[in-house]
Amino acid sequence: MKDLAQRLWQQAEQCRIGGSPLTAALLEGATRDLTAGGVVADLLAAHAAEPSGSVPSLRFAGSLHRLVLERKAPELALHYPSVGGTAPVQDVWPAAERACREHLEELRHLVALPVQTNEVGRAAALVAALSMLGPGPVRLLELGASAGLNLRCDAFAYDLAEGVVLGDPDSPVRLVRPWEPPFPASPQLPPVVARRGCDPAPVDPTSTEGRLTLTSYVWADQLPRLERLRGALQVAERVPAVVERAGALEFLTRELADLPEGVTTVVWHSVVWQYVDPAERLAVDALLDRTGRDLTTGAPLVRVSLEPQRVGTQDFAFQLHVQRWPDGTRVHLADALGHGPPVRWTGATLAP
Ligand SMILES: C[S@@+](CC[C@H](N)C(=O)[O-])C[C@H]1O[C@@H](n2cnc3c(N)ncnc32)[C@H](O)[C@@H]1O
Repeated sequence: MKDLAQRLWQQAEQCRIGGSPLTAALLEGATRDLTAGGVVADLLAAHAAEPSGSVPSLRFAGSLHRLVLERKAPELALHYPSVGGTAPVQDVWPAAERACREHLEELRHLVALPVQTNEVGRAAALVAALSMLGPGPVRLLELGASAGLNLRCDAFAYDLAEGVVLGDPDSPVRLVRPWEPPFPASPQLPPVVARRGCDPAPVDPTSTEGRLTLTSYVWADQLPRLERLRGALQVAERVPAVVERAGALEFLTRELADLPEGVTTVVWHSVVWQYVDPAERLAVDALLDRTGRDLTTGAPLVRVSLEPQRVGTQDFAFQLHVQRWPDGTRVHLADALGHGPPVRWTGATLAP
């Protein structure tokens, strides 16, 4: 439990750095309660030995947010900007603690569920990489796609600079100045001709349940993220994308069996690797490398990833990498924040 308390505390710090004082205050309160053997100890004891990558802290925060969104915790809701709450952040814990006691059995079920954040802002990193691949058509395959919102990245608007908008300028999702500096060359977005993803726990973004799940994992005081999500849910109504229930290896083994000629196959994943079993990770790496080294020039394969790397003891950098074959060269193209923008170019470019 000591380790779990430490992880909750560290996540609180990450949330503060990441611009969510509300989630930070909740997790600090939860840490103190856990250490004192309160209701949080009862709730999270069963998860104390789980790998830290499965983030029980964010599952806890998401579970409370869900109660609020379902109008089951009105006192707690007063502190949640996502439902119009304006009560002070520093007073949130007593209300949260009461909500935990009142809804203990429901929360027990909710905290066991995986984190299902489908962060639309991360599309800014994906599109940064796509814009460097040239004009040819792209088949987009996403590992750990959640609800597949970013499989529709070309249907969002990227307001790069005065008069320069990539994607759909009329999109309800608008990412303003998402790149720093705006762009290294004249950017263009290749046409996305196929969009498929996988996830062991896919979310249907067109269902009420799916929308509620996705909303609950957005930190409740980050209104621009909630707005982006609402826009992406609208886009998902009109732009179809398949997310099948499967792990990365099973999905890719099938999808890479036959690469279509004349189309660049882009395998994309963001903030997924920490959730994938190490053996599966190695197998996916090997499969991509094997496929890439064998491919014909008419069917290019590219891997684009945005994954956290630890920097120092506390902080993370979210690095955008692009790997291309047949030689498997991997380029560190940019750094982003955990939820996407700003995407800062490293200065590296892709060889033609
Ligand atoms: C933090 S979410 C990120 C979702 C999405 N990629 C994004 O950036 O918004 C991590 C996702 O990884 C999925 N996941 C867990 N294990 C996986 C596996 N073995 N293969 C593929 N996806 C996995 C989870 O179900 C979850 O949807």
